[in-house]
Amino acid sequence: MARLMTAQLLLFMVCLAVVWATRSRTELLNVCMNAKHHKEKPGPEDKLHYQCSPWKKNSCCSVNTSQEIHKDISYLYNFNWDHCPEKMTPACKRHFIQDVCLYECSPNLGPWIQQVDQSWRKERILNVPLCKEDCERWWEDCRTSYTCKSNWHKGWNWTSGFNQCPVEAACHPFSFYFPTPEALCSNIWSNSYKVSNYSRGSGRCIQMWFDPAQGNPNEEVARFYAEAMSGAGLQGTQPLLFSLTLKLLWLLH
Ligand SMILES: *[C@@H]1O[C@H](CO)[C@@H](O)[C@H](O)[C@H]1NC(C)=O
Ligand SMILES: *[C@@H]1O[C@H](CO)[C@@H](O)[C@H](O)[C@H]1NC(C)=O
Ligand SMILES: *[C@@H]1O[C@H](CO)[C@@H](O)[C@H](O)[C@H]1NC(C)=O
Repeated sequence: MARLMTAQLLLFMVCLAVVWATRSRTELLNVCMNAKHHKEKPGPEDKLHYQCSPWKKNSCCSVNTSQEIHKDISYLYNFNWDHCPEKMTPACKRHFIQDVCLYECSPNLGPWIQQVDQSWRKERILNVPLCKEDCERWWEDCRTSYTCKSNWHKGWNWTSGFNQCPVEAACHPFSFYFPTPEALCSNIWSNSYKVSNYSRGSGRCIQMWFDPAQGNPNEEVARFYAEAMSGAGLQGTQPLLFSLTLKLLWLLH
């Protein structure tokens, strides 16, 4: 009798450990961050606008947000891409639009979501491994555009309601503030991205650009990193799980 009860208890503990490990992994998948404009949960949005349309099968952004992303100084963040007298080239701007589409619409950034203590959002992304070609192309296409800062999250003059260069920050070509692709992609949004050494199509880095006809390649990437991250947790429980299972088998024998 006692033996049976011990066996039941052990079985229960094994189940608990497995459930815990699985849950910590699935909580990183198919989620929207808790920020300013994100939907609570991802879902289909048939009418997503233009550059955000790759996410229409499953998206964290609404149609309205996807339209606003394509405007200059949209109500989303009142952010002015053209903060220097020389306007940002269209070839450069499309990367910024794509970057915001990824940020607002992607349900595959779960493994990199972090809590933050900010007035305008509760969560942010940190060190998302951006495919190296996506970063290189962004940098290449923006080399000839102008800016006055290397971190676009802070230090602006907001007195007129949108960001302007503070008086002490001079406008220079992008390459002055961002000498390398890595400098651009990691510094501009306070390490929201880090440049991956993996390439597009590897399944190991997040693509800002993708052809939705082939599905969303970032789903697999999120699964891989979620597995790796909770794998660390699961590995910790493995010796415990192993000894529990052994005892269980021995008892049941
Ligand atoms: C999106 O919604 C906001 C707030 O409700 C509104 O001000 C804005 O005009 C809308 N944008 C579009 C493109 O419909
Ligand atoms: C901020 O911008 C306003 C209006 O454009 C300007 O009068 C003011 O001097 C600026 N302040 C700083 C610190 O740049
Ligand atoms: C990327 O770097 C990691 C560790 O630095 C290395 O193990 C991996 O092979 C590299 N991947 C590629 C595609 O170069």
